[in-house]
Amino acid sequence: MSPEPLSRPSRIALRALRPAPAPVRPTPRATRWRVTGPADHPLVRHLRRQPYPAAGPEADVLVLGGRWPAGGAGVLLDAYQRAAGRQLTLVHDGAGGGSLLRGLGAGDGRPVGTVALGDPTPAALRRAAGLLAAPSAADELTVAADGTVHTLGWRAAPLPGRAPRFAGATVLVTGGLGGLGSRLAVALAAAGAVPVLLDVRTPDDAPPDVRRMLTLLRRRCPRARLLTLDLTDPAAARAALAGLRPTAIVHCAGRIAGGTGVRLGPAEVDALVAAKVATLETVLATVRAKRLRAVLTFGSLTAHGAHPGLAGYALANELLHRATARYAATHPGVRCCTAEWSLWSGAGMARQVARVAARHLGMVPVPVATGVAAATRLLAALVDAPPDEDLPDSLLVCSERPGTQGAWSGRPEGVPGVDAALVVPAGGDLDMAMRAVAEAAAGGAALIPDGTAGPGAPLLVRATVTGDGVDCVVRSGADPDGPALRSSRYRLLPAGT
Ligand SMILES: NC(=O)c1ccc[n+]([C@@H]2O[C@H](COP(=O)([O-])OP(=O)(O)OC[C@H]3O[C@@H](n4cnc5c(N)ncnc54)[C@H](OP(=O)(O)O)[C@@H]3O)[C@@H](O)[C@H]2O)c1
Repeated sequence: MSPEPLSRPSRIALRALRPAPAPVRPTPRATRWRVTGPADHPLVRHLRRQPYPAAGPEADVLVLGGRWPAGGAGVLLDAYQRAAGRQLTLVHDGAGGGSLLRGLGAGDGRPVGTVALGDPTPAALRRAAGLLAAPSAADELTVAADGTVHTLGWRAAPLPGRAPRFAGATVLVTGGLGGLGSRLAVALAAAGAVPVLLDVRTPDDAPPDVRRMLTLLRRRCPRARLLTLDLTDPAAARAALAGLRPTAIVHCAGRIAGGTGVRLGPAEVDALVAAKVATLETVLATVRAKRLRAVLTFGSLTAHGAHPGLAGYALANELLHRATARYAATHPGVRCCTAEWSLWSGAGMARQVARVAARHLGMVPVPVATGVAAATRLLAALVDAPPDEDLPDSLLVCSERPGTQGAWSGRPEGVPGVDAALVVPAGGDLDMAMRAVAEAAAGGAALIPDGTAGPGAPLLVRATVTGDGVDCVVRSGADPDGPALRSSRYRLLPAGT
């Protein structure tokens, strides 16, 4: 298999994370807090000092610190159960956990929220306390030291890098006997790298397609190696990885569990986190960082969504992104990025379910060849990037087929902040299109195909649910981030009216 040159970059869409200012609504009335968290945490102390009325809405709050604690899944699941139907807000200083909470809340239709608190200044504490009492439409809010509030936004990003050339560089590929890791190893070898595959699987346990990749890899790069080890075992890693001086690491090790209607227990969630995060931390703690230039971790779009059946997997991916960013912050000489993929079709852990699940979730799967080419090129960019080049630390990678940009991008699998989008042919009925998009954003109404395509540039209509309304904006399809050509707002009516 040779990697597909990215001559058709429209096959995938990349978006980089960026903070977006979030409107803050005033607290409706005084709230009674039910706080779980360390007594010496600044927010816990602040909340316990607040006078509150004997009657009034109750807000449950779980406070975590800067790192995901051992047994964190159990702590969060317990707090969710104790909240017993009331709104639960998770506040953390970097530990994360919002993805697990969103998944639980989405499964039960319960209100949940996540607030990330940076510097606990008096302004930030006051603002955070206000947010706990005023549920927000945004999935995750960040409060800065001056009390301003941001949510996660995404901006379109080009695929960085040039044609990959690795010139004999050693590249560790964890999960190298997985569907994606094995294919990436073959592509890296084709670009001149010497892959070293690390996996707990043996070739005998691997599916036939992976064994074929291994044969291809050995033919293409006789110096490629395979090391069989459990990467959650630091002693085994020290023994196996001694003497390796990689230029780059691609972290593909991971597991998935869950599915529609499945709710995992704390031990199962911890196992998913270990397979993605402990494995990364073991490798990073074991290899010599002297020659290390780049770390590319394979995350998932689910980290930013609200997935009832995949909440544990989403958490593992959220914590993976946080662990990658933490390593980057302490190793300025190593360029790090998490590729947050949507589903891949045709290989890997989602190959059995990709078509059905993708249709169900509204995802357009990434074709294997396109994903492998994008990952190879992204890694080359990380390895080669001059120190002053600003590369994103997270790239959301979805598939986009020309002509289907208007397919429903239902949250959270679409673009966060945009609940529904539709390309309207020039000459189409805009009022009707805006109403249709607004209805879809508000409740998933079916789209009636519009056969009135005429000449000229298509228009893009996007709708976002904000509070009790849906905002629609029309932009040029050729310039989706350009000025709004028209806008409209719809009010959401309570059910039954
Ligand atoms: N496939 C997709 O559509 C998709 C989409 C988004 C993100 N991703 C991410 O991309 C990565 C690769 O996915 P994939 O589809 O190639 O999955 P895969 O085929 O299941 O490969 C993952 C490999 O990691 C190994 N592994 C698990 N725990 C390990 C440990 N403790 N030590 C060493 N190896 C370990 C697995 O071994 P076992 O046989 O023991 O499980 C497996 O061989 C995963 O992290 C996944 O979450 C995949």
